[in-house]
Amino acid sequence: MSNETTPSTHSESLSREISRRRTFAIISHPDAGKTTLTEKLLLFGGAIHTAGAVKANKTKRYATSDFMEIERQRGISVATSVMGFDYREIGIRLLDTPGHHDFSEDTYRTLTAVDSAVMVIDSVNGVESQTEKLLEVCRMRETPILTFINKMDREGQDPFALLDEIEKKLSIKVVPLSWPIGGGRIFKGVYNLHTESLVLFRPHGKREDEKDVVVIRDLADPQLEAHVGDQALKLREDLDYVRGVYPPFSREAYLAGKITPVFFGSAINNFGVKELLDCFVDVAPPPKPRPTDVRPVEPDEKAFTGFIFKIHANMDPKHRDRIAFLRVCSGRFERNQFYLHVKSGKQVRFANPTAFMAQNKEIIDDAWPGDIVGLHDTGNLRIGDTLSEGEKLIFQGIPRFAPELFRLVINTDPMKSKQLSKGLEHLMDEGVAQLFTSAMDNRRIVGVVGALQFEVIQHRLLHEYGASCRFEAMNIWKAFWLDCDEPGVLDDFMRPRPSSMVRDKYDHPVWLAESRWFAAQMEGDFPKIRFRKTAEI
Ligand code: G4P
Repeated sequence: MSNETTPSTHSESLSREISRRRTFAIISHPDAGKTTLTEKLLLFGGAIHTAGAVKANKTKRYATSDFMEIERQRGISVATSVMGFDYREIGIRLLDTPGHHDFSEDTYRTLTAVDSAVMVIDSVNGVESQTEKLLEVCRMRETPILTFINKMDREGQDPFALLDEIEKKLSIKVVPLSWPIGGGRIFKGVYNLHTESLVLFRPHGKREDEKDVVVIRDLADPQLEAHVGDQALKLREDLDYVRGVYPPFSREAYLAGKITPVFFGSAINNFGVKELLDCFVDVAPPPKPRPTDVRPVEPDEKAFTGFIFKIHANMDPKHRDRIAFLRVCSGRFERNQFYLHVKSGKQVRFANPTAFMAQNKEIIDDAWPGDIVGLHDTGNLRIGDTLSEGEKLIFQGIPRFAPELFRLVINTDPMKSKQLSKGLEHLMDEGVAQLFTSAMDNRRIVGVVGALQFEVIQHRLLHEYGASCRFEAMNIWKAFWLDCDEPGVLDDFMRPRPSSMVRDKYDHPVWLAESRWFAAQMEGDFPKIRFRKTAEI
């Protein structure tokens, strides 16, 4: 308890807790095997006991209606959005990211709350579009990445070709730490370059037993033939080439996001997963310093700081509850303590903060850097908000998104206009979309990144607020947030075009440009106006 803790034991326990935290996310294109890998990792960590516990939550994608998909995404995303388990005395926090590409904003934001990532690539399909986008976000933040090439039990692409593709498409250097022996029907296992041992493949393995691992330091050892038969020759050649072409593993380069260590395996067969996890625990970074608008914050600073990266409203439709996800960045977060909500300047306190450990949501008394805490919120918190013990700083790097699709909201049940307004406001707070109000006639326009969000909004308005609406297409190319140091110039721009001027929820003027060409012309004509494509969150 805090009042029994002397300053030195406080800082000792702070550094101890920091050094044993690893907070990460798995990124992949849908179907590459993220769910399967997550499940195997949880099994290793003892967080779940039966295979299928994570999978059971995942209905067949696209086989069901989009609404089912929405509900599925929402339903499991709180239950399993943060999974915690201990492995080799390291407290691992795995943050889930939605698979559907229309929810990618959520994924991008989640990536701001992790210290490293594991990238899963399907050996048959290679690097796919979603992975490219996600990796771009990781690269911007120099997030260290481990790579798992999955489905080696299937007839996949040549491993060298896969590594080339990763280097070219993702602009990151690879360092294979394991090497596959055959693939598909003739997949025999991998040679672990790190531990210099053979790991033999057994389909549907529960765990990799010790006896499946054979230490072979000298590749000329005839034991190799005894285990992998005539594939031994090819393996020797491959490894010769691998050692000649790829640099040795450097933790420094990995931590700087410059190289990605690569493992080959088969998640469904629980093969290669343990090596990945062991390497993860050995090399993945504990909580790192984080930039703010004032100064970088070190995790071992005594004073607590953290930021909100995700909000979920109405998980229980009977109570208008919202859960804000807080990433602790420094110090110790304590239950029932007053903290400064930097944006509003208000003091806030949380009586029931929760940790998400596997399937259990439990109330916690404290949390440490790297931890994710669920805060019950009555509408004060927004994505990107910072909490602190008093210092006025704002964590940076929460990505902001330019909406790409715009539709007019038409209320189809005038008796429920209050519910509609309230629902729209709440859903926008979650960050699913952005709401604009016409400066001329108060009509409401919703801007989103992925089209599925319109269905999400419509569905949730009806089911959570009893409000019904439809959306009408609009001819808008992009929204521009306008800033200008000379109010007269801004007025000159806005006055002749009232129908394309709107306000965002903070009452900031936004111009809805109908074409790229016209936007470019206006930017040229009004050099004193700053045309920003995203809002500050
Ligand atoms: P995701 O979360 O990245 O979308 O992928 P998920 O784990 O759901 O895996 C997608 C499909 O790939 C699943 O098959 C899964 O069983 C399969 N899979 C995962 N790892 C491997 C592997 O190592 N080898 C092979 N051959 N398949 C793998 P599905 O048919 O869509 O689902 P299910 O019926 O198996 O549940």
